[in-house]
Amino acid sequence: MSEDLKRQAAAMALAEIRSGMRLGLGTGSTAWHFVDLLGEKVAAGFECICVPTSEATARQAEALNIPLSDLETLDRLDLTVDGADEIDPQLNLIKGAGGALLREKIVADASDAMVVIADASKLVQTLGGRFPLPVEVNRFGLGATRRAVAELIEHHGTGGNLRLRETSPGTPFVTDGGHLILDAFFGRISQPEALSRDLLDIAGVVQHGLFLKMCKTAYVATPDGVKALTS
Ligand code: A5P
Repeated sequence: MSEDLKRQAAAMALAEIRSGMRLGLGTGSTAWHFVDLLGEKVAAGFECICVPTSEATARQAEALNIPLSDLETLDRLDLTVDGADEIDPQLNLIKGAGGALLREKIVADASDAMVVIADASKLVQTLGGRFPLPVEVNRFGLGATRRAVAELIEHHGTGGNLRLRETSPGTPFVTDGGHLILDAFFGRISQPEALSRDLLDIAGVVQHGLFLKMCKTAYVATPDGVKALTS
Protein backbone atom coordinates (compact mmCIF):
# COMPACT_ATOMS: atom_id res chain seq x y z
CA MET A 1 0.00 0.00 0.00
CA SER A 2 1.44 3.35 -0.95
CA GLU A 3 2.46 5.99 1.54
CA ASP A 4 0.03 8.31 -0.24
CA LEU A 5 -2.94 6.12 0.73
CA LYS A 6 -1.77 5.86 4.34
CA ARG A 7 -1.53 9.65 4.38
CA GLN A 8 -5.09 9.94 3.05
CA ALA A 9 -6.36 7.77 5.95
CA ALA A 10 -4.34 9.91 8.37
CA ALA A 11 -5.87 13.09 6.88
CA MET A 12 -9.37 11.73 7.54
CA ALA A 13 -8.49 11.23 11.21
CA LEU A 14 -6.93 14.69 11.34
CA ALA A 15 -10.24 16.16 10.21
CA GLU A 16 -11.81 14.87 13.46
CA ILE A 17 -9.58 16.78 15.83
CA ARG A 18 -10.59 20.08 17.38
CA SER A 19 -8.62 22.88 18.98
CA GLY A 20 -7.60 22.17 22.57
CA MET A 21 -7.98 18.40 22.29
CA ARG A 22 -5.86 16.00 24.34
CA LEU A 23 -4.61 13.42 21.87
CA GLY A 24 -2.91 10.04 21.98
CA LEU A 25 -0.35 9.63 19.21
CA GLY A 26 0.04 6.12 17.81
CA THR A 27 3.09 4.29 16.52
CA GLY A 28 3.95 2.80 13.13
CA SER A 29 4.18 3.86 9.51
CA THR A 30 0.54 4.99 9.22
CA ALA A 31 0.48 6.82 12.55
CA TRP A 32 3.71 8.51 11.38
CA HIS A 33 1.67 10.31 8.70
CA PHE A 34 -0.91 11.45 11.25
CA VAL A 35 1.81 12.92 13.47
CA ASP A 36 3.45 14.54 10.47
CA LEU A 37 0.17 16.17 9.38
CA LEU A 38 -0.53 17.23 12.97
CA GLY A 39 2.90 18.86 13.02
CA GLU A 40 1.89 20.97 10.02
CA LYS A 41 -1.29 22.03 11.82
CA VAL A 42 0.60 22.90 15.01
CA ALA A 43 3.10 24.96 13.00
CA ALA A 44 0.10 26.91 11.67
CA GLY A 45 -1.06 27.71 15.23
CA PHE A 46 -3.33 24.75 16.11
CA GLU A 47 -3.46 24.02 19.84
CA CYS A 48 -3.43 20.52 21.30
CA ILE A 49 -1.61 18.48 23.92
CA CYS A 50 -0.47 14.95 23.11
CA VAL A 51 0.70 11.74 24.75
CA PRO A 52 2.95 9.59 22.50
CA THR A 53 2.72 5.77 22.53
CA SER A 54 6.44 5.15 21.95
CA GLU A 55 9.85 6.76 22.20
CA ALA A 56 9.93 6.83 18.37
CA THR A 57 6.68 8.79 18.17
CA ALA A 58 7.85 11.08 21.00
CA ARG A 59 11.01 11.91 19.01
CA GLN A 60 8.98 12.58 15.85
CA ALA A 61 6.51 14.81 17.71
CA GLU A 62 9.27 16.71 19.53
CA ALA A 63 11.00 17.44 16.22
CA LEU A 64 7.71 18.91 14.96
CA ASN A 65 7.22 21.02 18.13
CA ILE A 66 3.99 19.19 19.00
CA PRO A 67 3.29 19.83 22.71
CA LEU A 68 3.69 16.61 24.70
CA SER A 69 2.48 15.52 28.10
CA ASP A 70 1.90 12.28 30.00
CA LEU A 71 -0.81 10.40 31.85
CA GLU A 72 0.35 11.69 35.23
CA THR A 73 -0.41 15.26 34.14
CA LEU A 74 -3.53 14.46 32.06
CA ASP A 75 -6.07 12.09 33.56
CA ARG A 76 -8.01 11.50 30.32
CA LEU A 77 -7.45 11.99 26.60
CA ASP A 78 -10.15 12.93 24.08
CA LEU A 79 -8.94 10.80 21.20
CA THR A 80 -6.15 8.40 20.22
CA VAL A 81 -5.21 7.88 16.58
CA ASP A 82 -3.20 4.74 15.86
CA GLY A 83 -2.52 2.06 13.25
CA ALA A 84 -3.32 -1.67 13.40
CA ASP A 85 -2.05 -4.99 12.04
CA GLU A 86 -5.43 -6.73 11.74
CA ILE A 87 -8.97 -5.30 11.91
CA ASP A 88 -12.03 -7.57 12.14
CA PRO A 89 -15.61 -6.59 11.16
CA GLN A 90 -16.38 -5.49 14.78
CA LEU A 91 -13.21 -3.34 14.73
CA ASN A 92 -11.42 -5.60 17.17
CA LEU A 93 -7.71 -5.32 16.47
CA ILE A 94 -4.36 -7.01 16.60
CA LYS A 95 -1.63 -4.45 17.24
CA GLY A 96 2.03 -4.54 18.16
CA ALA A 97 4.06 -5.24 15.03
CA GLY A 98 6.07 -2.18 15.98
CA GLY A 99 6.46 -3.42 19.55
CA ALA A 100 4.62 -0.49 21.13
CA LEU A 101 1.50 -2.44 22.17
CA LEU A 102 1.76 -1.82 25.93
CA ARG A 103 1.92 1.96 25.72
CA GLU A 104 -0.57 1.91 22.83
CA LYS A 105 -3.09 0.05 24.97
CA ILE A 106 -2.52 2.22 28.04
CA VAL A 107 -3.00 5.39 25.98
CA ALA A 108 -6.05 4.03 24.11
CA ASP A 109 -7.58 2.89 27.41
CA ALA A 110 -7.15 6.41 28.82
CA SER A 111 -8.89 7.91 25.76
CA ASP A 112 -12.58 8.61 25.24
CA ALA A 113 -12.28 7.36 21.65
CA MET A 114 -9.83 5.41 19.53
CA VAL A 115 -9.60 5.98 15.78
CA VAL A 116 -7.61 3.51 13.69
CA ILE A 117 -5.99 4.41 10.40
CA ALA A 118 -4.85 1.63 8.10
CA ASP A 119 -4.83 0.30 4.58
CA ALA A 120 -7.25 -2.34 3.31
CA SER A 121 -4.68 -5.14 3.64
CA LYS A 122 -5.32 -5.02 7.41
CA LEU A 123 -8.99 -6.09 7.12
CA VAL A 124 -9.68 -9.72 8.15
CA GLN A 125 -12.81 -11.76 8.88
CA THR A 126 -11.26 -13.37 12.00
CA LEU A 127 -8.29 -12.11 14.01
CA GLY A 128 -5.11 -14.15 14.05
CA GLY A 129 -5.32 -15.80 10.67
CA ARG A 130 -2.73 -13.63 9.02
CA PHE A 131 -0.69 -11.92 11.68
CA PRO A 132 1.00 -13.28 14.82
CA LEU A 133 -0.33 -11.98 18.11
CA PRO A 134 2.44 -10.04 19.88
CA VAL A 135 2.65 -10.93 23.57
CA GLU A 136 4.82 -8.66 25.70
CA VAL A 137 6.54 -10.62 28.47
CA ASN A 138 8.85 -10.04 31.39
CA ARG A 139 12.45 -11.12 30.82
CA PHE A 140 12.44 -13.03 34.12
CA GLY A 141 11.11 -16.53 33.75
CA LEU A 142 10.98 -16.35 29.96
CA GLY A 143 11.05 -20.14 29.59
CA ALA A 144 8.08 -20.67 31.91
CA THR A 145 6.10 -17.88 30.26
CA ARG A 146 6.92 -19.22 26.82
CA ARG A 147 5.67 -22.70 27.76
CA ALA A 148 2.44 -21.26 29.21
CA VAL A 149 1.75 -19.21 26.05
CA ALA A 150 2.52 -22.28 23.89
CA GLU A 151 -0.15 -24.21 25.84
CA LEU A 152 -2.66 -21.49 24.99
CA ILE A 153 -1.83 -21.88 21.30
CA GLU A 154 -2.76 -25.57 21.67
CA HIS A 155 -5.98 -24.63 23.46
CA HIS A 156 -7.16 -21.56 21.52
CA GLY A 157 -5.44 -21.77 18.16
CA THR A 158 -5.91 -23.59 14.92
CA GLY A 159 -2.27 -24.58 14.88
CA GLY A 160 0.70 -22.31 15.06
CA ASN A 161 3.96 -21.57 16.70
CA LEU A 162 5.72 -19.14 18.95
CA ARG A 163 8.92 -17.22 18.47
CA LEU A 164 10.86 -14.67 20.45
CA ARG A 165 11.05 -11.45 18.43
CA GLU A 166 14.65 -10.58 17.52
CA THR A 167 16.25 -7.50 15.98
CA SER A 168 18.96 -9.75 14.51
CA PRO A 169 19.74 -13.45 14.99
CA GLY A 170 20.41 -13.99 18.70
CA THR A 171 19.52 -10.43 19.74
CA PRO A 172 16.04 -10.10 21.28
CA PHE A 173 13.90 -7.09 20.47
CA VAL A 174 13.42 -5.02 23.64
CA THR A 175 10.32 -2.84 24.08
CA ASP A 176 10.30 0.74 25.38
CA GLY A 177 9.32 -0.75 28.74
CA GLY A 178 12.35 -3.08 28.78
CA HIS A 179 10.34 -6.23 28.07
CA LEU A 180 10.55 -8.95 25.39
CA ILE A 181 7.97 -9.95 22.78
CA LEU A 182 6.74 -13.43 21.89
CA ASP A 183 5.06 -13.47 18.47
CA ALA A 184 2.36 -16.12 18.78
CA PHE A 185 0.83 -17.57 15.61
CA PHE A 186 -2.59 -18.74 16.79
CA GLY A 187 -4.25 -19.15 13.44
CA ARG A 188 -7.86 -17.94 13.58
CA ILE A 189 -8.81 -16.73 17.07
CA SER A 190 -12.48 -17.67 17.55
CA GLN A 191 -12.81 -16.50 21.16
CA PRO A 192 -10.61 -13.41 21.54
CA GLU A 193 -12.09 -12.36 24.92
CA ALA A 194 -11.31 -15.75 26.46
CA LEU A 195 -7.82 -15.75 24.96
CA SER A 196 -7.23 -12.24 26.31
CA ARG A 197 -8.16 -13.32 29.83
CA ASP A 198 -6.09 -16.51 29.63
CA LEU A 199 -3.01 -14.62 28.44
CA LEU A 200 -3.32 -12.00 31.19
CA ASP A 201 -3.61 -14.82 33.75
CA ILE A 202 -0.03 -15.87 32.95
CA ALA A 203 2.18 -14.17 35.53
CA GLY A 204 4.99 -13.34 33.10
CA VAL A 205 2.71 -11.78 30.48
CA VAL A 206 2.78 -7.98 30.69
CA GLN A 207 0.24 -7.32 27.91
CA HIS A 208 -0.88 -8.64 24.54
CA GLY A 209 -1.85 -7.12 21.21
CA LEU A 210 -5.57 -7.93 21.21
CA PHE A 211 -7.43 -4.59 21.35
CA LEU A 212 -11.05 -5.65 21.90
CA LYS A 213 -14.02 -3.26 21.81
CA MET A 214 -11.65 -0.29 21.99
CA CYS A 215 -11.96 1.11 18.47
CA LYS A 216 -15.15 2.83 17.34
CA THR A 217 -13.97 4.20 13.97
CA ALA A 218 -11.45 3.02 11.39
CA TYR A 219 -10.39 4.96 8.31
CA VAL A 220 -9.25 2.36 5.81
CA ALA A 221 -7.41 3.50 2.70
CA THR A 222 -8.24 1.69 -0.55
CA PRO A 223 -7.24 2.54 -4.12
CA ASP A 224 -10.86 3.82 -4.49
CA GLY A 225 -10.55 6.20 -1.56
CA VAL A 226 -10.74 6.10 2.24
CA LYS A 227 -13.65 4.20 3.76
CA ALA A 228 -14.97 5.03 7.25
CA LEU A 229 -15.89 1.90 9.22
CA THR A 230 -17.73 2.07 12.55
CA SER A 231 -18.43 -0.53 15.20
C1 A5P B 1 2.95 -0.60 16.72
O1 A5P B 1 3.31 -1.34 17.84
C2 A5P B 1 1.79 -1.23 16.04
O2 A5P B 1 0.70 -1.51 16.85
C3 A5P B 1 1.34 -0.41 14.83
O3 A5P B 1 0.37 0.53 15.17
C4 A5P B 1 0.82 -1.35 13.83
O4 A5P B 1 1.79 -2.36 13.65
C5 A5P B 1 0.52 -0.69 12.50
O5 A5P B 1 1.71 -0.26 11.91
P1 A5P B 1 1.77 0.23 10.40
O6 A5P B 1 0.90 1.44 10.30
O7 A5P B 1 3.22 0.52 10.16
O8 A5P B 1 1.28 -0.90 9.55
